[in-house]
Amino acid sequence: MIKLSTLKINIDVNRLASNSGTKAIEAKSVRKTFGNNTAVAGVDLDVQAGDMVALIGSSGSGKSTLLRMIAGLINTDKNEQGSIKVANKVIQANGKLDKNVRKNRSSIAFIFQQFNLVRRLSVQTNVLIGLLGEIPRWRGSLCWFTKEEKQRALAALERVGLNSFAEQRASTLSGGQQQRVAIARSLLQDADVIVADEPIASLDPRSAKRVMDILSDINKQDGKTVVVSLHQVDYAKAYCRRIVGLANGEVKIDLSADALNDEDLVELYGTEKDEIDFGVSLSQSENEFVSEGAAVPALARA
Ligand SMILES: Nc1ncnc2c1ncn2[C@@H]1O[C@H](COP(=O)(O)OP(=O)(O)OP(=O)(O)O)[C@@H](O)[C@H]1O
Ligand SMILES: [Mg+2]
Repeated sequence: MIKLSTLKINIDVNRLASNSGTKAIEAKSVRKTFGNNTAVAGVDLDVQAGDMVALIGSSGSGKSTLLRMIAGLINTDKNEQGSIKVANKVIQANGKLDKNVRKNRSSIAFIFQQFNLVRRLSVQTNVLIGLLGEIPRWRGSLCWFTKEEKQRALAALERVGLNSFAEQRASTLSGGQQQRVAIARSLLQDADVIVADEPIASLDPRSAKRVMDILSDINKQDGKTVVVSLHQVDYAKAYCRRIVGLANGEVKIDLSADALNDEDLVELYGTEKDEIDFGVSLSQSENEFVSEGAAVPALARA
């Protein structure tokens, strides 16, 4: 037991060292208006490769809009200084998606609050969809995958604890399980950056913790960069090293998780402390997860 945890720490340090200094995300002067409403009001955001960053802020503060622009799902406003690069590839600049955006987007996996699985397809096929960016189109449209690709999908499902569900229709799984399938799909895609927009908002605390454990494990073991928007501040502090807080479409706080205190949160949310959503106590169900054999998180605090 002790030996295993020592090994894990060594791997983590090596991963961080190999990634240090490389930018996974470079967003400059990013704006987005919908009619008269400014959703994102000129954001500069750099994320180092291998980091795990939480994006927090009240409802309507611009989190989803910013994440969608980073992933190239929507355009920024036209602005000559405005640009977004992910894994050193241009996603968009001056309000226009790059002409290679389809290819460049393969560096980014997007995890949605509502999972975005094809409900009538099997769990394994949903995971294989993560390969659509790299296999010939005709194969994708026929859902024709090689034996080796299917093996990779099973291995990804095993990693999220769902290999025994491979043949089942996605619609038959619980919300938490569906979100883990979505994460397995991102593993198959082998994207450098995982962008997750409130991945635990529709989940019970137990499933939420398991999903965050898996994202954290992928960050630590595989060195993937993770940016995750969250409403529950305690989850953000426990799982992420850096916390970026948005208010009215602007970055209001940008701190290490250790440095973030209650006053920062009261200011960010513009509310009383007892009105902030800290989330359900993480330690409450931690023992259950350990006994289930799920990835054990390196919690930044108890
Ligand atoms: N497609 C759209 N059309 C018009 N307005 C939009 C659109 N998407 C977002 N907005 C507006 O932009 C602002 C920011 O929305 P966004 O969804 O990014 O906030 P959020 O921080 O993700 O909120 P939540 O925590 O509720 O998910 C809001 O005022 C929202 O109403
Ligand atoms: Mg949102």
